[in-house]
Amino acid sequence: MSGIAIMTSGGDAAGMNPAVMAAVNRAYQLGMNPYVIYDGLEGFIDGKIKKATHELTAEMAFRGGTLLRTSRSKRFYEKKYREEAYNRLRKLGIEQLIIAGGDGSFRALNDFFHDFEVPFAGIPATIDNDIAGTDYCLGVDSAQNVILSCIDAIRDTAMSHRRAFVIETMGRDCGYLAMTTAICSGAEICIAPELPYNLEDIGNRLHRRIRDGIGYIIAIAAEGTKKAGELTQWLKENSGMDTRLTVLGHIQRGGQPTMRDRLMGIRFGTNAVECLHRGDINRIMYYRDGEYGGCGLENVAGKKYQVNQHIFNLALALTH
Ligand code: F6P
Repeated sequence: MSGIAIMTSGGDAAGMNPAVMAAVNRAYQLGMNPYVIYDGLEGFIDGKIKKATHELTAEMAFRGGTLLRTSRSKRFYEKKYREEAYNRLRKLGIEQLIIAGGDGSFRALNDFFHDFEVPFAGIPATIDNDIAGTDYCLGVDSAQNVILSCIDAIRDTAMSHRRAFVIETMGRDCGYLAMTTAICSGAEICIAPELPYNLEDIGNRLHRRIRDGIGYIIAIAAEGTKKAGELTQWLKENSGMDTRLTVLGHIQRGGQPTMRDRLMGIRFGTNAVECLHRGDINRIMYYRDGEYGGCGLENVAGKKYQVNQHIFNLALALTH
């Protein structure tokens, strides 16, 4: 029986658990021998590898985070540690790997393939939605829903006190979370790394709206801009409103996976196993233009994710 091991790596993302569950289930159905690796690439080096059981996956459909836990490994960049990991696999007869994470994790397993010819499949999972080649990464929908409910809650207090609020969202250098949640929460302002913005124009628009009776302001700032503090100060000085900054932080990565993340996780997990089973190796799962598939790492690594033009245009209206 062919041994296959599944792990999660990088920042945790809701949907990772359903993906692992589906991969384990599909591997059993196809007569493979599934293992799980705990603590990501760090645990891989240290041999934290166990046989996958239905007892483990039983809770995975609805749990947030990753029950396999995760890590951001520096050691895996060094060949000597990759060799330790390889020896762990050989002892257990594991011949294939699946990793759910970001493009750094895929690159790590690609290096591993070049060293030891162990085929892999990658599942895009990061709330940042910054992986080229796929429209969707696991964790995004859950994070968006957490962010929206936080913005809705802040709106209540903003309205009650007639205040301006700047809300900083995660996303690293990608503005996808900020743009989509700004649009869907009805925010007045959105700043993101991809978007040019003009404070003077924003000021003129706000003053017109304040004259029309708008009593509070919601501004969304992507962390990648590093401008949330500055925007807060500017609003304090220019909106005539008492202003506060809320940095949402890691709350955005928490909580149960939404329906969409469960289904996407299950599809990606199933597809990853099926790819490897039919010998289509080293593929990164994607969902693009409504289709699922697997592409080579060259379509993902080192490429910049482009935010969908319609989302971009809608968010652009909140920048001037
Ligand atoms: O990549 C996911 C992410 O949550 C980013 O949005 C954020 O910049 C980063 O991870 C935070 O990393 P850490 O959890 O290591 O503080």
